[in-house]
Amino acid sequence: MKVLAIDTSCDETSAAVTEDLKVLSNVVWSQASLYAKWGGVVPSLAQRQHEERINWVIARALKTATTNLKEVEAIAVTVGPGLAIALGVGIKKAKELASDLKIPILGINHIEGHILSPLARSRKSEVNEIRQKDGILGLAVSGAHTEVILIEELASKYKILAETQDDALGEALDKTARMLGLGYPGGAVLEKLARLGNQKAYALPLPMIGKEKQLRLSYSGLKTAMWKLVESLGSDLDKKQICDLASSFQNTAFEHLTRICRETLKQYPAKEIWVGGGVVANLELRKRLRKMGQELKITIRFPYSKKLCGDNAAMIGVVAGLKIARGSFGQKIDLVDRRPRFRIDEVAEPMGRENKEKRGI
Ligand code: KG4
Ligand code: ZN
Repeated sequence: MKVLAIDTSCDETSAAVTEDLKVLSNVVWSQASLYAKWGGVVPSLAQRQHEERINWVIARALKTATTNLKEVEAIAVTVGPGLAIALGVGIKKAKELASDLKIPILGINHIEGHILSPLARSRKSEVNEIRQKDGILGLAVSGAHTEVILIEELASKYKILAETQDDALGEALDKTARMLGLGYPGGAVLEKLARLGNQKAYALPLPMIGKEKQLRLSYSGLKTAMWKLVESLGSDLDKKQICDLASSFQNTAFEHLTRICRETLKQYPAKEIWVGGGVVANLELRKRLRKMGQELKITIRFPYSKKLCGDNAAMIGVVAGLKIARGSFGQKIDLVDRRPRFRIDEVAEPMGRENKEKRGI
């Protein structure tokens, strides 16, 4: 079944065409560089940018997939979490299309998209096998979320096992990059410089030391410690200092994440972890998670391309494909609305065949 998926949750306008778990196209128009001078997304500007680009990204996604609207059988759209007025642009467009084309619409949770993004391109038989397995965890590492999630039922039921109590990992990396004068969003630049630095050059406090059993992540104390350290070094940092700072920060931030993952695995033994979100583009983080996987004899899955890590609509199409395979016929169009604080543990069982009439299409 061909799905046209849309995501406008933050500062990327994205549309994709997927068919089951295959990604036929995935067009992402990033606005991120616009926000460099503010050091964060400006919602009203993001809304305007989405409005200007949405038709273009949809047309491009259809063209790249060599298809057209007549062949699209369902619409999937991110309904949250995200910036309310940004989400609104994608949702409005998705509802217009679903109603004009008289096809089902599925409102999808963005974090569900991130943690299921490693399934893109999997074979159906592989997914059927996965469905039978117990003990799969999702790890979402993005600009706004850091969560370890138990996948109780694929594409329908989740439990959050560990989450950050303050800043997200991506947010902490972005703020550190900004302190070092590396612009916004700085996660990727920080990674490049960190590769050239010494991760033991500066001692930073490891968060939640001795309290790992509580399964809580926290990055705000580490960020403050970094701020004080940078201040103490004065205003003229040389390249070596910047690389060493970047490397030391990344080292501590990733060490904290993997420690909490290890503790979660002690409490909830799992056979697999699926990792998604912008920060998983980071090769050092992947290396550490892979090492953890080898030591604990568990499979770690990542998305197959960098484009599937950051915000993108293909991951939303993949989730829709899985929900359709479970028998979802979408939602009543009027009920599809933005949910800026939509938590993954509020995702409900997809609406089944028996409810097709209620959907009103
Ligand atoms: O998933 P995402 O695109 O957006 C949200 O849902 O928040 O994640 C964006 C985050 C930003 O914090 C960005 O700096 C970070 O992902 N990021 C990286 C890398 N590429 C993007 N962090 C570390 N290393 C990277 N290579
Ligand atoms: Zn995201």
